[in-house]
Amino acid sequence: MIRLRNVSARAARLLVLSTLALGACRHGGARQTVDIGTYLGGEALLVAAEPVFAQHGMVVSNSALASAAGVEILKQGGNAVDAAVATGFALAVTYPFAGNVGGGGFMNIHLADGRNAAIDYREIAPLAATRDMYVDPATGKLTNKSVIGHLASGVPGAVAGMAEALGRYGSMPLAKVMAPAIRLARDGFLVDSALFRSLRSNRAVSQFAGRDLFYPGGEPLAPGSRLVQAELARTLEIIAAKGPAGFYQGEVAEALVAEMKRGGGIITLEDLRRYKPEWRTPIRSTYRGHTLLTMPPASSGGITMTETMNILEPFAPLPRFGSAGYAHLLTEAFRRAFIDRNEKLGDPAFVRVPMDQLTSKTYAQSLAAEISRTRATPTPAFKTGTEPEHTTHYSVADGKGNVVATTTTLNGGYGSGVWIPKAGFFMNNEMDDFAAQPGAPNMFGLVQGEANAIAPGKRMLSAMSPTIVLDANGKVLLVVGAAGGPRIITTTTQVILNVIEHRMSLADAMRAPRLHHQSLPDTLRYEDGAFSAAVADSLRAMGHALQRTGGLANANGIMRVSGGWIGVREPRSTGGAVGH
Ligand code: GLY
Repeated sequence: MIRLRNVSARAARLLVLSTLALGACRHGGARQTVDIGTYLGGEALLVAAEPVFAQHGMVVSNSALASAAGVEILKQGGNAVDAAVATGFALAVTYPFAGNVGGGGFMNIHLADGRNAAIDYREIAPLAATRDMYVDPATGKLTNKSVIGHLASGVPGAVAGMAEALGRYGSMPLAKVMAPAIRLARDGFLVDSALFRSLRSNRAVSQFAGRDLFYPGGEPLAPGSRLVQAELARTLEIIAAKGPAGFYQGEVAEALVAEMKRGGGIITLEDLRRYKPEWRTPIRSTYRGHTLLTMPPASSGGITMTETMNILEPFAPLPRFGSAGYAHLLTEAFRRAFIDRNEKLGDPAFVRVPMDQLTSKTYAQSLAAEISRTRATPTPAFKTGTEPEHTTHYSVADGKGNVVATTTTLNGGYGSGVWIPKAGFFMNNEMDDFAAQPGAPNMFGLVQGEANAIAPGKRMLSAMSPTIVLDANGKVLLVVGAAGGPRIITTTTQVILNVIEHRMSLADAMRAPRLHHQSLPDTLRYEDGAFSAAVADSLRAMGHALQRTGGLANANGIMRVSGGWIGVREPRSTGGAVGH
């Protein structure tokens, strides 16, 4: 990170504008963007995609400003949980694409004294939700109301979850950790090329109430302009003063419900009043002497990753990166884990999740034994829809060795597109993560079963996979997770395998081309450079359908190294690793 002091606002604006050109550069085949649009308290931060080393602490997120907010709290003596909550609220301001107070997420915590905790603040279906609410009664077909508009939102969990995590494991009051977010909303920040491009490619959002703020004169906010979010600042100030009651009751709640009523949504004050985050026990599994601490349901991430790694373990050491043998084994392991995921997983308060079976090494070995080393196992063909980028993951480490992995989301970019007037934030479209019509694909092409059907008060199944990996001595090795729907699971798994199996540095592990298979559609998707043309021919000969694709998922990670931490933000996207 290069820190430029006393930069004039004009100079900062010029830096921001220059990112338009830099953002279009290509390096080594992967699209690289450089995030400069950070202008905070008279300083501009220049954050590149290179790995960052720091002795005392590290925050890596999809917004350099939000990472800086977390580090500001670390520098004031806050621990990793304080910094994670500061980063989460700051993302709601600087990364409205996925950062949120109108969505939900999962936070995975490992403390230096060995304690582990996980908090699930996933959204829930409103009380008035019904199993077939997105099926057109006339045609029997799915509508797009789970994706866009007022009916698409679950009851948000982010504020309750972050406040609960802070209360139990943080060391600072809410108002203190929220101060950077409030400042960013109230004083504004300079729009960078990343936010400009994101708004430009998500124009559907401009049909809703936020249009005047984000599309002044009908055009996306220009790079270099200052985005001041006065209504959001006020909402954050109310939350800082009153805690979750400032969001789930009172004027913010009333503004949310009024907008729902106006637009035909179904979230009520009673829905908001009832929302509760859930403390969960992290899934603890092992892979070749390492310990993985991952997220249990209502996320599918931990079980699916654990099952995948357990299927792969009998084949270890795995074939070399880039070989047909490696791509084949990875595909067959993901295929089997996703078949279980899509059929058996749902909110554990509503369905019996066979957790012991799905995380057992014996069960995984029986699946591994079915894998042919030379032939793909076909699953029925099926056509998928488009798969938008969404969600955001951030990783945090402090000087004492406490670490936090958090993934949070509105689901689609800018969620349902619905923005709450007077309160100033976007609502999620998380209802699409339910099997809106069991057996039909959602917006990620996932075909899921009855276990994830809609019911009032139920949490929709997630793929979010905030993960902490401990080394053979029980010390933190990695803090990692990703955005990208089901690709979250496959990407997080691959970053971990790249470090453990392929002995890559974190920077290489994150840069390495990725693969994705989610059982249906039965297609092995791959990024450029994942393997050679000859290997692609071998894979086709084995029976794999291949599909070349652009950047698969968006991960942000931290690795412990001698004397400190290395932070790496997603090389395919924007953001920043900020350390101190
Ligand atoms: N909304 C994406 C996920 O939770 O997996």
